[in-house]
Amino acid sequence: MLIAQITDLHMRSPGDKAYGVIDPAAFLDQAVRTLNALAPRPDCALITGDLADLGRPEQYAALRQALQALEIPYFLLPGNHDDREELRAAFPDHGYLQGTGAFVQYAVDCYPLRMLALDTVVPGKSHGELCRERLQWLDDRLAEQPGRPTLVLMHHPPFQTGIEHMDDIGLLEGARELEAIVSRYPNVERVLCGHLHRTIFQRFGGTIASTCPGTAHQLALELGPRPALRYIMEPPGYQLHWWSDGRLVTHHAVIGDYPGPYPFE
Ligand SMILES: [Fe+2]
Ligand SMILES: [Fe+2]
Repeated sequence: MLIAQITDLHMRSPGDKAYGVIDPAAFLDQAVRTLNALAPRPDCALITGDLADLGRPEQYAALRQALQALEIPYFLLPGNHDDREELRAAFPDHGYLQGTGAFVQYAVDCYPLRMLALDTVVPGKSHGELCRERLQWLDDRLAEQPGRPTLVLMHHPPFQTGIEHMDDIGLLEGARELEAIVSRYPNVERVLCGHLHRTIFQRFGGTIASTCPGTAHQLALELGPRPALRYIMEPPGYQLHWWSDGRLVTHHAVIGDYPGPYPFE
């Protein structure tokens, strides 16, 4: 099984630039072309939050339009820039988003790897939280199939990254409790996250928690105290998670046109 992860699309209407610089719609088109060109083709794509930059209906409409070109099934989860109800309204045919109550949490059971999506959103805030109700849902789902290889998906990573301004708006509640749950289930292959616009890993609860680069802008790799959080137009990227022989291998890959590949001659 092959899974493509993209994240932090921060979609806006075509031509509507963020900060006068970033054109998320153009970047998303490029990401879609990249995923469509992959061989072998991924079984599905996971899109781990910050789907629309300002959570507006027209941005979700543009997102839906752009994702119509994606030739593989995809699963959405919300980030701090998203609005749950606008997201649900724009994707009425995505049944897993609907009727899940206050939170957009769901299980995907139709692939060799099971996927459990958690909702870390606190409406109107940049930071994330996992309250008791959301954590209990995860614990209950994991208890259903304790022997089955499983991915946990969430927007805010459950660890400190050293990029202090992002840690200030990280998962401020529930990370330790999440780790206690995950540590009871060695079948959790990964905790896959977004939010950081970079690739970062940490050992977490006996598994690996990671973040994925954004499809548009990245966050500058500036550790420690800094006057401000800054973005940088490094190459956008994605991750390919390859499940083979009972092991999950993760490739970090960049999006864009580069010279090559060339044979070693
Ligand atoms: Fe983001
Ligand atoms: Fe975010």
